[in-house]
Amino acid sequence: MTLEEATRLLAAAGIEAPRAEARLLLAHALDIGRDATLTAIPTPQQGAVLAALVTRRAAHEPFAYIVGRKEFWSLAFRVGPGVLIPRPDTETLIEEALRLVPDKSAPLCIADLGTGSGALLVAALREFPNALGIGFESSPEAFEFARTNAASLVGARAEIRAGDWNGAQGPFDLIFSNPPYIPTADIESLAPEVCRHEPRAALDGGPDGLDAYRGLADLLPKILKPGGHAVLEIGIGQAFAMELLFRKLEIVRIAADLAGIPRCLVLRNP
Ligand SMILES: C[S@@+](CC[C@H](N)C(=O)[O-])C[C@H]1O[C@@H](n2cnc3c(N)ncnc32)[C@H](O)[C@@H]1O
Repeated sequence: MTLEEATRLLAAAGIEAPRAEARLLLAHALDIGRDATLTAIPTPQQGAVLAALVTRRAAHEPFAYIVGRKEFWSLAFRVGPGVLIPRPDTETLIEEALRLVPDKSAPLCIADLGTGSGALLVAALREFPNALGIGFESSPEAFEFARTNAASLVGARAEIRAGDWNGAQGPFDLIFSNPPYIPTADIESLAPEVCRHEPRAALDGGPDGLDAYRGLADLLPKILKPGGHAVLEIGIGQAFAMELLFRKLEIVRIAADLAGIPRCLVLRNP
């Protein structure tokens, strides 16, 4: 398969930027830089490898699953089927944590509830070099990705625990969570990359999208240190519900993401 054939196939499948993605897949297949793809002529074997990648992408499998990695907070995370691909919007939570704790040498005890690829926990531990952290993850597939990422990016400072985050025992100084928050009925209308390929358990927040927050409202006051903070991702239109849910904690602020959407709820245990 050539670059032109790959582009045509991706365009026919409705991929938004077919030429750019075809070049990136060719670069991955040939293990070359993106610039070199304009002059590269794949051998028949390389063409077959490219064809296999293009077939997966034409079925709307996320690009990050196909190449097996995704950048978050300028760190390369291993990802694949079974784990949520970390999103740039989620970096807002790390920015907020840095505002809350300006002293980067603080010996924090950090938790990440529903750690997925480990993105939030690992990024936080890289920013706070004296901190230790635990990531809780109920999906066995995601747990394996988190373990691999944590081991290679922060070593023994992160522990990844398999199981429900309700098993967490504090006290923690800082808790992150990007819980599943899509209302069940909305999942099918998401992009095919998301609704057909990313794990349901990472998306489905129940009938109104708020099921996980109800559980967290109960759990967080028990496992946060007095004066400790929780930094939670929220979905579009969910900010209004948070004041009612988190009655036992103080709402410090709700920060917007890069698109100006209220995305990050900052809570403090009084
Ligand atoms: C939206 S994903 C977030 C993943 C990652 N923190 C990120 O921001 O990219 C939510 C994650 O929470 C996990 N999860 C959902 N409910 C859980 C629970 N009760 N206990 C532990 N993990 C849970 C899911 O399997 C999924 O990996």
